Amino acid sequence: MKTLHIDVIHGPNLNLLGEREPHVYGTQTLAEIDAQLQRLGNDLSAVITTFQSNHEGALVDRIQAGRHQMDAFLLNPAGYTHTSVALRDAVLAAGKPVVEVHLSNTDAREPFRRNSFLADVAWARIQGFGAVGYELALRGLVGHLRARDR
Ligand code: DQA
Repeated sequence: MKTLHIDVIHGPNLNLLGEREPHVYGTQTLAEIDAQLQRLGNDLSAVITTFQSNHEGALVDRIQAGRHQMDAFLLNPAGYTHTSVALRDAVLAAGKPVVEVHLSNTDAREPFRRNSFLADVAWARIQGFGAVGYELALRGLVGHLRARDR
């Protein structure tokens, strides 16, 4: 089975998971979520790399850097979801499937969180499942890539 390469990219303030608004984002730390994804990736014959930044340009750089090496991306753009044309353009330029992941259900929160600059360019979106959403996203994405390449 072909080894897949998937980059998991976390946006601003997600480095504070575990302590940040735990009633909204849960109690798992980012390191725990990343480790969980690495283990699942192992089971699915996928190499999982992870990256977090609080800086929009660093996130754009990361997507650009992976555009030839990666088969796909899991992306939680966090606050930049609702503001960033640059991240949207990076996703379009990369031309690889992207799953937009949110821990919280952004549609059930403040009205400004209902707008996503990524939603219509993402291959799929998942939100509201907490940290489990990343695992669901990874399973769905790997299934899609395997079916596509069959
Ligand atoms: C988030 C939702 C965003 O609205 C927020 O700015 C975040 C996290 C989520 O995972 O639920 O930082 O992307």
